[in-house]
Amino acid sequence: MKDLLASLTRKPGKAKPAPPEPVAIPKGPAALLLNSDLHRGSVLAPFPEGLLLEHGLPIGQNPVQAWIDAKWREWHDWAGKLAQGRRVIRIFNGDLCEGRHHRQAELITNNLALQRRAAKQAIEDVRQEGDLLFLVRGTWAHAGAAGEDEETIAEMLGCTPEAGTGHYSYFLLPLSINGTRIIAVHTIGATRSPVSEATALVTQMAKTARDSGRWGTPLPDILVFAHRHQFCAVHLPARRQGQYCCTLPSWVGKTEHGYSFDPLSPPQIGGVVILIDADGTWQACSRFWALPTPSFLEV
Ligand SMILES: [Fe+2]
Ligand SMILES: [Fe+2]
Repeated sequence: MKDLLASLTRKPGKAKPAPPEPVAIPKGPAALLLNSDLHRGSVLAPFPEGLLLEHGLPIGQNPVQAWIDAKWREWHDWAGKLAQGRRVIRIFNGDLCEGRHHRQAELITNNLALQRRAAKQAIEDVRQEGDLLFLVRGTWAHAGAAGEDEETIAEMLGCTPEAGTGHYSYFLLPLSINGTRIIAVHTIGATRSPVSEATALVTQMAKTARDSGRWGTPLPDILVFAHRHQFCAVHLPARRQGQYCCTLPSWVGKTEHGYSFDPLSPPQIGGVVILIDADGTWQACSRFWALPTPSFLEV
């Protein structure tokens, strides 16, 4: 942040963009748990049983919500075993609520306060004492025009705030864990074409290499995006262990928007764990499922 302020006050002609300051995390074996796109408040995402709607109206769960809820717990059990003996750092990479947008009709409630509580509860259900939590702001339609829904959830959860602003959620989260540099951002381009799935990832990796060369800033080792609700990962050769880039799957079923964007593919549910040893050596592990598709109707 000091570098950023210094760059803003430099004289014209001497300006140099400052790289984002990584959040320093104490050294030691670590596990980075990555999840995204919970979309709580959608009828296709789980909603806490005890959270009543207006006038005390209780709600149940449809089969898609129940299935996703079971996988949420299964995924975190799996990730917890991988992370045993390590410091746990959790990133939730945006779109935690469904929000109230585009005349969306698939909402459990359009009360954003209840959607925020549902998102907070989902994270409270799986966090362990001592975990570091980070929350990245998602798409405006789901996070609020200024990211206020995610800022509020992050404050409710006691997430690690941004140095300098004191804000609890991030548009761009730069982390340094045992010398491994990670950047998490929500938005990346989506595609309908299976042969272009990796294109946007490689483009982002190439941009970081270009900027690193132009400005002499360190190349990030790991880039984490979300937004498309589909898992994709690319690992390219570069200094140290190379550069890895992924997009995270989601925790929501197929909405009307999903049917119009990509009608045939089943929604992908799951997340990524990155284990980072004390010397900075890392490995990425992922676990995901496809939401079961309806069986063929025999006539
Ligand atoms: Fe999303
Ligand atoms: Fe998004």
